[in-house]
Amino acid sequence: MRITYNQHTLLDTQILPSPFSQFESWFNDAKRDALTTSVEPNAMNLATSTRDGRPSSRMVLLKDYDEDGFVFFTNYESRKGRELSENPWAALNFWWGQRSVRVEGRAEKVDAAESDEYYNSRPRGSRIGAWTSPQSCALQGREELESLEREVEKRFEGVEEIPRPPFWGGFRVVPERIEFWQGRPSRLHDRIEFRRTEGGKRWKMARLAP
Ligand SMILES: Cc1cc2nc3c(=O)[nH]c(=O)nc-3n(C[C@H](O)[C@H](O)[C@H](O)COP(=O)(O)O)c2cc1C
Repeated sequence: MRITYNQHTLLDTQILPSPFSQFESWFNDAKRDALTTSVEPNAMNLATSTRDGRPSSRMVLLKDYDEDGFVFFTNYESRKGRELSENPWAALNFWWGQRSVRVEGRAEKVDAAESDEYYNSRPRGSRIGAWTSPQSCALQGREELESLEREVEKRFEGVEEIPRPPFWGGFRVVPERIEFWQGRPSRLHDRIEFRRTEGGKRWKMARLAP
């Protein structure tokens, strides 16, 4: 299980000055590599926490990103949704083999138009699924879920454009800190941290010890 980390060295002069450009560069590499594996390069671990500081984490899919932040979609009444409404601080972690990107910041709901646009781009089955699943709640069994699905299908029979459920939409994690990690021989890995400066549009970069 001990693999040798062998990424090319990341020289200080090669790090892009914007963490978003650096993210794009690594994300493009991961998407290219994913063509030969079954891995979803846009899968990311999302950590949230309750008001009193108990953490929880799960995987979600990155659906959009730009200089405003990293967007995923979910049920706002799910455990993660409830935790984010109590405590908006969140952390993301992408894992691409010998690379990882960690993002920390506050999560805010994306505006309704943005959620509508993404919801409307999804296949009908996924739109039905969003209405069907009381995400994170206990079910009597698989049968209950399937019967809920049948009810939703009946409700929207003949309806071409199924509307977005009010309890479903996107969150945008607005980063305060983004870290790029890559594996190097002898555990002397590269760790590049970007921290948003006070009030800021600017980022302060530092190299951290591995
Ligand atoms: C690869 C992968 C991608 C997932 N993507 C999402 C997603 O984008 N949105 C979502 O709500 N759940 C997604 N899930 C399911 C979540 O991991 C989780 O089971 C669900 O959101 C309920 O989490 P919660 O009870 O902590 O709110 C994904 C799971 C995996 C393994």
